[in-house]
Amino acid sequence: MKKIMVINGPNLNRLGKRDPNIYGHETLEDIMQEMLNIGSEKNLELDFFQSNSEGLIIDTLHKNDIADCIILNAGAYSHYSIAIRDAIECIECPVIEVHLSNIYKRENFRHHSVLSEVCLGQITGFGKESYILALEAFLRMQNK
Ligand code: DQA
Repeated sequence: MKKIMVINGPNLNRLGKRDPNIYGHETLEDIMQEMLNIGSEKNLELDFFQSNSEGLIIDTLHKNDIADCIILNAGAYSHYSIAIRDAIECIECPVIEVHLSNIYKRENFRHHSVLSEVCLGQITGFGKESYILALEAFLRMQNK
């Protein structure tokens, strides 16, 4: 059974209440439930972690180097955390970067992710479907 770790960064615990025009009405729990449903259909073990703290996100990346894939929405840290970038670079597990909103359509400071260069790929702008598409990308790559 393949293991996928899903890590969410700062303020994503506020989904549902936070700027629904940008991030949608679903809560993080709704998204996790939808991923779990797909996981049980596709025989994937899924684990979830959310933190507003950079250090805890880094610790969780290190600890989950044993996973087959990490799906990461690092929130605002994506735009400036060299420490999270370095953590991704020093683990072997492939990391898929996701964003609910299309970061390229928003303020200039969101246009650059310092993480992208060390991630397997980036999925941005599909709301909660960004997470589902990341799962799908992982599954499809297994079949290659
Ligand atoms: C986000 C985009 C970031 O710019 C923002 O700081 C977030 C959420 C997204 O999922 O669209 O917290 O990562």
